[in-house]
Amino acid sequence: MVEQKKNGKSGENGEKKKNRLSSFTSTLKKSVTLEIAAKAKQMNAHGKNVVSFSAGEPDFDTPFAIKAAAKAAIDAGKTKYTDASGIKELKMAIRQKFMRENNLHYDENMIIATAGAKYALFAALAAITSHGDEIILPVPYWVSYPSLIKLTGGTPVFTYPSEKRGFRLVLDDVKKVATDKTKAIIINSPNNPSGAVYRSEDLEAIVNFCVERNIMVISDEIYEKLTYDNVQHVSLAAIVNEKSRRNIIVINGVSKAYAMTGWRIGYAAGPRDVIERMKFFAAHTTSNPNTIAMWAAVEALNGNQNDVEMMSRKFNRRRQFMYDEIMKIPELKCVYPVGAFYMFINFSHYINCTINGHRIENTLDLANYMLDEANVAVVPGESFGLSGFLRLSYATNMDNIAEGIDNIRAALADVEFDNE
Ligand SMILES: Cc1ncc(COP(=O)(O)O)c(C=O)c1O
Repeated sequence: MVEQKKNGKSGENGEKKKNRLSSFTSTLKKSVTLEIAAKAKQMNAHGKNVVSFSAGEPDFDTPFAIKAAAKAAIDAGKTKYTDASGIKELKMAIRQKFMRENNLHYDENMIIATAGAKYALFAALAAITSHGDEIILPVPYWVSYPSLIKLTGGTPVFTYPSEKRGFRLVLDDVKKVATDKTKAIIINSPNNPSGAVYRSEDLEAIVNFCVERNIMVISDEIYEKLTYDNVQHVSLAAIVNEKSRRNIIVINGVSKAYAMTGWRIGYAAGPRDVIERMKFFAAHTTSNPNTIAMWAAVEALNGNQNDVEMMSRKFNRRRQFMYDEIMKIPELKCVYPVGAFYMFINFSHYINCTINGHRIENTLDLANYMLDEANVAVVPGESFGLSGFLRLSYATNMDNIAEGIDNIRAALADVEFDNE
């Protein structure tokens, strides 16, 4: 019998064997973050007490008034299709939010509500990227950016802001990698995973450089409400004039600020032609975002902001506590985070060593060791494009932080280095 050949080669009858799966999705990899979270859950189910520092979402409940608005929407029968770009009331609430908080004036047709900020990013990239376009991505980056870029036909081009400068991107980092093919850059401030908040003067120089070369700037501001130590978030669109704003797409959403990650409401604001394309893209893929969740988001944006302030205050206390605890381990370094709810900690001291009989070659090994031996779930830097680091989220309570850092300290006690 003639053996069937693999991958599109001829089989017994000379017929071409088709790949069942698309080349378009072939670059997608499983998410290490989700895998670690699933493993931690499984360990908990088997009676282990795993402390999770892997959360990418607030541990608080969605505020009462927001949930009430969703219930009221259901009772009022607001459960049908809407315009693909969202209900008028939400777009109005988003416009007013931009005016009130960012001093930015967008018309209704410059706004789109989407199924989460992630979909706003996907639609924005789909609207502007042609095959082979280069999209600049500062490292460390949020885990999904490279996949979103590749799915829309682009090529991610990485740039490496210095750790010494707190991972804050500056113009030189952009100049090093910009080419004729550069179509856009994604800027995320406050940053996941580093907790960095970029400075206005650095952003201004970067945006001016991009506008001059007609490079689009996608500004992911999803952690806008979570800054500390009196550091102010400034929307990237607010630091340039109206003409330059044609190159800027602002991405935001209610997931992180209002503890609404499961509701799936994000939004984008930008030039009319880009937003119109995004609207067409959404119309043929998701249609409108969930109608009930949109009514909840109207309440989130228009309503009382006390809960946001309460959550931010709690995150701040946990941040200070976690940072102080981490700094008690002399071999660790960490850029002091002033935004979001993450710390990106330099564990490079523990690469190429053996800890308690476990071989550690990279931070993926270290994250697995921490989970198996210290009962602590952390996310390896490799997920964010930078080995040598672990991301710890402080979206968990103080007791967990104290216990988890104690466990980490104990787990790092018995180390043998290769050249000792
Ligand atoms: C930097 C960044 N952008 C976007 C998102 C996605 O937000 P959403 O849940 O609204 O899709 C996340 C979520 O973790 C994020 O960290």
